[in-house]
Amino acid sequence: MNNFNFCSPTEFVFGKDREQDTGFYVKKYGGTKVLLHYGGGSAVRSGLLGRVKQSLEQAGIAYVELGGVQPNPRDTLVYEGIALCRQENVDFILAVGGGSAIDSAKAIAAGVPYDGDFWDFYSGSQIEKALPVGTVLTIAAAGSEGSGNSVITKTEGALKRGAGSDLLRPRFSVMNPALTCTLPAYQTACGATDIMAHVFERYFTTTTEVEITDRLCEAVLLTMIKETPRVIADPANYEARANIMWAGTVAHNNIVGVGRVQDWNSHGIEHELSALYDCAHGAGLAVIMPAWMEHVYQRGVMRFAQAAVRVWGCEMDFEDPAVTAREGIVRFRRFLHGIGMPLTFAELGAKAEDIPQLVENIGIGNGTRAGFTTLTREDITRIYEIAVDPKLL
Ligand code: NZQ
Ligand code: ZN
Repeated sequence: MNNFNFCSPTEFVFGKDREQDTGFYVKKYGGTKVLLHYGGGSAVRSGLLGRVKQSLEQAGIAYVELGGVQPNPRDTLVYEGIALCRQENVDFILAVGGGSAIDSAKAIAAGVPYDGDFWDFYSGSQIEKALPVGTVLTIAAAGSEGSGNSVITKTEGALKRGAGSDLLRPRFSVMNPALTCTLPAYQTACGATDIMAHVFERYFTTTTEVEITDRLCEAVLLTMIKETPRVIADPANYEARANIMWAGTVAHNNIVGVGRVQDWNSHGIEHELSALYDCAHGAGLAVIMPAWMEHVYQRGVMRFAQAAVRVWGCEMDFEDPAVTAREGIVRFRRFLHGIGMPLTFAELGAKAEDIPQLVENIGIGNGTRAGFTTLTREDITRIYEIAVDPKLL
């Protein structure tokens, strides 16, 4: 196991009706004037936003609002949010929604106290200061409610980039699984795919002797395999929703990834798809992650075979573990198909002729991407090509 620091300071406020306590937690973490930041309207329609406002009012917290965060949140709204916060002397950012609203809130939080362009943080500069962020989560997916990451799309050039700092970890996150019952099945499945991808990005490692994190990863994956079909069949199943919601946080606050080399190449390769086609991140991952697996499994057959046996219940073929590894990838694709996810470029609405541009946008030039295995430009091209026409179906 490698040396590590692990900082997860977020207070998770989990369970039925907990959004009623939002004002209390804003106050607890020093907020006096809040930017209430939310998406395209689901929180308004469900009545959640009204309940959150009521809670803020009861706690004596003033607020201004900025809605309209799009999935794959854009830089343009972040600039608007930064200007509004400065003008209104906002000292706390409260996101109500999913990864998109939360990531946009984090970008605003970092941008307000910074003299330069907030995009610097998404181009490699370190965040030195940020306003505190809190969240009321409405979809189990990105894990942003517990992570120190934020992903924003620069409208000009369709560049999707991430920033990371423990300063971006929310002070608190309200997590009421019942709020996720209004999700369309497709969004539920996209979220489940993202959660599983967050674990696989950590599971596929070159670090040996990491039994504890291997087993934690497997527990999250097995939970998702069990609970996702249950909520697709029965969207109002609170207990299954609750298990998935907590799995989403555990998958990405890094408790399952500490002390080991991680991969993150499927995410990097997918982000160019959601940047170019504005598809859901989870749907893009359903197309890319198995394609990545298909391309690289021979470079680490035993780890893929381990996943096949422990996660997908395959029989180990001791004569030829590659057979087991391949069967695991096939079962992953079958699972994704079963929950309604796309598996190919065509199903996602992506085009093979855009592959050179997608590869260019990744921005590695003639360099490589590190991870479980090093990827060259040619490897990345091949992964996109496999996603056009997968073999292990
Ligand atoms: O905008 P509204 O109207 O709220 O609708 C949203 C949106 O259309 C809808 N929705 C959310 N909760 C709902 C609901 N509809 C009905 N009932 C509810 N309870 O679902 C749609 C998707 O929402 P979004 O916030 O975009 O989803 P998600 O949480 O998957 O976030 C995706 C973004 O997070 C980034 C992705 O790249 C993408 O931009 N990620 C962020 C990460 C992080 N910060 O750590 C890590 C991830 O790997 C990921 O990259
Ligand atoms: Zn993700």
